[in-house]
Amino acid sequence: MDIRPIQDGDEVALADLWRRCELVRPWNDPTSDIAFARTTPQSEIFVGKRQGDIIASVMCGNDGHRGWVYYLAVSPDEQGEQLGRAMMTKAEEWLRALGVPKLELLIRDTNAKVVKFYEALGYKTEPVIVMSRWLKEPSESPDG
Ligand SMILES: CC(C)(COP(=O)(O)OP(=O)(O)OC[C@H]1O[C@@H](n2cnc3c(N)ncnc32)[C@H](O)[C@@H]1OP(=O)(O)O)[C@@H](O)C(=O)NCCC(=O)NCCS
Repeated sequence: MDIRPIQDGDEVALADLWRRCELVRPWNDPTSDIAFARTTPQSEIFVGKRQGDIIASVMCGNDGHRGWVYYLAVSPDEQGEQLGRAMMTKAEEWLRALGVPKLELLIRDTNAKVVKFYEALGYKTEPVIVMSRWLKEPSESPDG
């Protein structure tokens, strides 16, 4: 797998990967999420390609205090080959090069099975409650 920053023309296949990995919710617009990350300094999207096809992704960003990753995905047909680990290593290297001391990430409570994956990579569960408020209402609101 070849890992490199997203390029023009990758958007449709990337959004399709996210949908197949069940990362997209009605209030997420993958196209605008991709465009926003690409135009935001200190954000990057890496894609993993095999024979020209996008089979993995990770979006990362530095908020000036912590580093964050979103949209970590490996195509369902290619999971279990250490590709998710490779994408996280890429995100960690990119954030470390920016001087970010700590990486954090969010897991939906409906996706708790992925905790074991992150634990295998050395991540720990933090005793925090995440709160949020929309600053720009999405076109479709979350149910809960
Ligand atoms: C999470 C995801 C990216 C993992 O990718 P992957 O390529 O299958 O994982 P890897 O092969 O790199 O696994 C790395 C390690 O995690 C472990 N692991 C992966 N998934 C696991 C699981 N469900 N339960 C237990 N361990 C798991 C592997 O055994 C491996 O351990 P090892 O290195 O000690 O042998 C992939 O399952 C995925 O895309 N899921 C759907 C989208 C998603 O949930 N993304 C995360 C949102 S927070």
